[in-house]
Amino acid sequence: MTTIASRLQEKRAAALAGGGKRRVDAQHAKGKLTARERLSALFDADTFREWDMFVEHDCSDFGMQDNRIPGDGVVIGYGEINGRLTFAFSQDFTVLGGSLSAAHAKKIGKVMDHCMRVGAPIIGINDSGGARIQEGVASLGGYADVFQRNVLASGVVPQISLIMGPCAGGAVYSPAMTDFIFMVRDSSYMFVTGPEVVKTVTHEDVTQEELGGAGTHTSKSSVADCAFDNDLETLQQVRRFMSFMPQNNKEPVPTLPSIDPKTRLCPALDTLIPENPNLPYDISELIKSVCDEHDFFELQADFAGNIIIGLGRLNGETVGFVANQPMVLAGCLDINASRKAARFVRFCDAFSIPIVTFVDVPGFLPGTAQEYGGIIKHGAKLLFAYGEATVPKITVITRKAYGGAYDVMASKHLRGDVNYAWPSAEIAVMGSKGAVEIIFRADKDDPQKIEQRTQEYQEKFANPFVAGSLGFIDDVIDPQTTRVHLCSDLAMLRNKTLENPWKKHDNIPL
Ligand code: HXC
Repeated sequence: MTTIASRLQEKRAAALAGGGKRRVDAQHAKGKLTARERLSALFDADTFREWDMFVEHDCSDFGMQDNRIPGDGVVIGYGEINGRLTFAFSQDFTVLGGSLSAAHAKKIGKVMDHCMRVGAPIIGINDSGGARIQEGVASLGGYADVFQRNVLASGVVPQISLIMGPCAGGAVYSPAMTDFIFMVRDSSYMFVTGPEVVKTVTHEDVTQEELGGAGTHTSKSSVADCAFDNDLETLQQVRRFMSFMPQNNKEPVPTLPSIDPKTRLCPALDTLIPENPNLPYDISELIKSVCDEHDFFELQADFAGNIIIGLGRLNGETVGFVANQPMVLAGCLDINASRKAARFVRFCDAFSIPIVTFVDVPGFLPGTAQEYGGIIKHGAKLLFAYGEATVPKITVITRKAYGGAYDVMASKHLRGDVNYAWPSAEIAVMGSKGAVEIIFRADKDDPQKIEQRTQEYQEKFANPFVAGSLGFIDDVIDPQTTRVHLCSDLAMLRNKTLENPWKKHDNIPL
């Protein structure tokens, strides 16, 4: 018994030591925490239960029989975040560079199977040199086993990836299939092929950071949703983020008791819209004003700024917000904005999160770059996502809702449950000037006539009344009452049931 107890103690100590002091120091010198330090910062104190601490690889090639560290480079288990059950795996870069062996992959598979069985989110902390080179194809098989689980878990439990070191080659595809990716600035990167290969193939000189750092993925590629300055800040923000996450696709959205009254008025909103309809304003002020405690978790803030997406709460319940941003490209929809918002709308719909949409959109962005880039197909993604969503959908048109973009932005025609307009709303096929230039082309050389026609068109359509008379909007509300209306409508919609026709799956224009 004593032998077993002492051997156990030895093994446990060996596992906890990871790759040893030298490698742990090297990890710290890079400003990075170790795999277990990260888990203890992520989970509520003393709630994390580790499994498979004694798992070892069974490779004996290239001297690997003498290079076994219990745990094999990944820590798995479950615990609580803000008191709610969450599963995690955390790769240990100090053990063989966190590289993925068959045994390592099996551990990740085990924790993923568990989270699916009990219906709880999973967080993967990635810090790895990729496939365990000594194992060859066994490692590739391990990756594919994880990929398959990512696919099956998609839309069943929230999957969140934290990139806290290298994540390269095919390894990027597991995070890519999860719901959200958070990166750490200056110490994490993701790419399919690294700078050396890029140099050989395309002769481009590019650093690791330029190719796949947090800046690149949050502003250029949109692969990552958020980036933070260091490990600790990232983990703290993920804890905050998790408070918005549902447990799975069957449970209702989580509720946090709020002291913010649902009857709170937001008087500043009455003067948010400038007198001149061509002047921009910051739509994020509207989102923050209406959210409980003004708490809004924005995603992809540095990508496609013409649309804002993120999570907040109304009446204590998680809500997804989508809003055109007049400060960027006048709030036009383009390829990037459509893709960004479409994926978010689908996430919300998959997990029963109601969607609130604020509309101020002058239309789709014109140009060859957009047309050649496939704005038709990408714009259709957002249209499709809103059209298929069965969660409660509330829409507020604050100013412009022009053309096809009016239809796309959670209009009544796409089964919007409650559609409001502010008095400043202009719901029309296009802006007055453009409209007059087309329908009164014959008068184009008579500026006085054109001006008069523009006035007429403006008076007819630059208001919410025509859409109101057709029932396309349910009411015109004072801006300051927006939160009150949203809270009361969400309570009304709590038991909403709406089902799409049976199908194996849809064929969204990818
Ligand atoms: C085995 C690895 C390893 C790997 C790193 N190590 N990557 N061991 N398999 N893939 C080990 C190193 O030997 C070293 O061991 C320790 O981890 C730390 O690595 P360093 O190189 O000292 O660290 P650093 O300088 O920070 O560089 C990190 C790195 C580099 C950039 C990740 O290690 C690297 O380039 N590794 C190889 C990356 C790679 O080509 N992976 C395969 C990609 S293909 P010691 O004992 O010295 O501490 C792939 C396919 C997946 O992943 C396909 C899925 C479909």
